[in-house]
Amino acid sequence: MFGWLRRSWRTAYERLLERELTGAPTHVAVIQDGNRRYAAEHGTEASDGHRAGADTTESVLRWCGELGVEELTLYAFSTENFQRPPDERETLFDLISDKLRSFADHEEVHARGVRIRTIGETERLPPRVREAIEYAERRTADHDELYLNVALAYGGRAELLGVAREIAADAAAGELDPEAVDVDEIERRLTTRPTQAVDLIIRTGGDERTSNFLPWHANGNEAAVYFCTPYWPEFSRIDFLRAIRTYQSRQESWRQTRARRATALLRAVGDSELEEARRIVSRLREHAPEPIEDDTDESTEQSAD
Ligand code: FPP
Ligand code: MG
Repeated sequence: MFGWLRRSWRTAYERLLERELTGAPTHVAVIQDGNRRYAAEHGTEASDGHRAGADTTESVLRWCGELGVEELTLYAFSTENFQRPPDERETLFDLISDKLRSFADHEEVHARGVRIRTIGETERLPPRVREAIEYAERRTADHDELYLNVALAYGGRAELLGVAREIAADAAAGELDPEAVDVDEIERRLTTRPTQAVDLIIRTGGDERTSNFLPWHANGNEAAVYFCTPYWPEFSRIDFLRAIRTYQSRQESWRQTRARRATALLRAVGDSELEEARRIVSRLREHAPEPIEDDTDESTEQSAD
């Protein structure tokens, strides 16, 4: 009966959230969870839940384009997902292949300059998925406006283990000095590396874990994390805007911490050290993000309503 009221309230709320945004994160990574629970609650098969989830995936890609996100990494099939029942696995492989091909043919994907890439041990996937990957990567290879990384047969530990083994082998062969191993050396060897460090991780479906997803790129960058309760097929634009707001308030609190430290430093030094302190303070300021106007503290809200 009050459906229209609810709808207009949601529209107004979505507009308000959007107005409050002062800048989007550069790189968003998403753990799309809850497809089967969504299906069970609607009395349908797991495959229907995954199909509904894939529609959300398409919407999220569009929202990223609209809001200026430059890179989106999606956890579509983890190494753990190989343990699922064969019929569910096959349905997922069909769905992922279809989606990769339809994204690659989509007019909007080309208009927005989306480049599709995959990360993970893709050699473990069946030929039809590998062919779809090859097709999508080739069709979008000339774009560079928005990177869509699809994590398939991906596991963060396996990725780091591969690098550790490579480094150990090179050191044992005398080709690498262990003392020379630094962050750059590891990043060069992460063959599945996204383009940029992750700023925000979103996980739907209520579980508060990051499940072996991008440990190097997200933890190293201390990404903001937004856990929310809607299942992936239910994830709305309002949820997405709230996740971005969490990222923004996190940036703001970092900015304040840096400013506090800078002031404390100035107070702690005497006149002779003042010049040096001023230089450090101006460096800290250069790296501080832009302030946001409204510092509402609702970042722990979880559900859509
Ligand atoms: C997790 O929900 C979801 C998956 C394992 C599959 C996600 C894949 C898609 C939505 C297809 C996207 C396609 C592309 C090309 C990006 P779950 O099965 O773990 O559900 P549950 O938590 O309720 O059990
Ligand atoms: Mg799950």
